[in-house]
Amino acid sequence: MPKVTFLPANETFEFESGKLPYKEHGKPESLLDVAMNFGFHLEHACGGSCACTTCHVVVKAGQANLSEMEDDELDRVEQAADFQLHSRLGCQAVVKGDVTVNIPEWNRNYVSEGH
Ligand code: FES
Repeated sequence: MPKVTFLPANETFEFESGKLPYKEHGKPESLLDVAMNFGFHLEHACGGSCACTTCHVVVKAGQANLSEMEDDELDRVEQAADFQLHSRLGCQAVVKGDVTVNIPEWNRNYVSEGH
């Protein structure tokens, strides 16, 4: 049962691999898919198609429990305003085990402004 924790809200969601209903945004069982299944807001302006950076998160723990970054994700996430060593796109990173991610302040502002 992988557990995903989103910071700074510090909300944790647990699901059974292969059993998460797909919410049609991002890759199935991606961080975005998990967030949507549990009603947690993670911005996703492009609908989870690796065409924006609004779902940018920074992995704090459990990096090895996410799918490996593919070239299209790397090309895109490098354009995030605050790209960091452990940056990922929430819609592309598929959860395979326990992971903790931080939603950067820039994204949080974006959310609170209601765009
Ligand atoms: Fe646009 Fe993830 S939602 S790249």
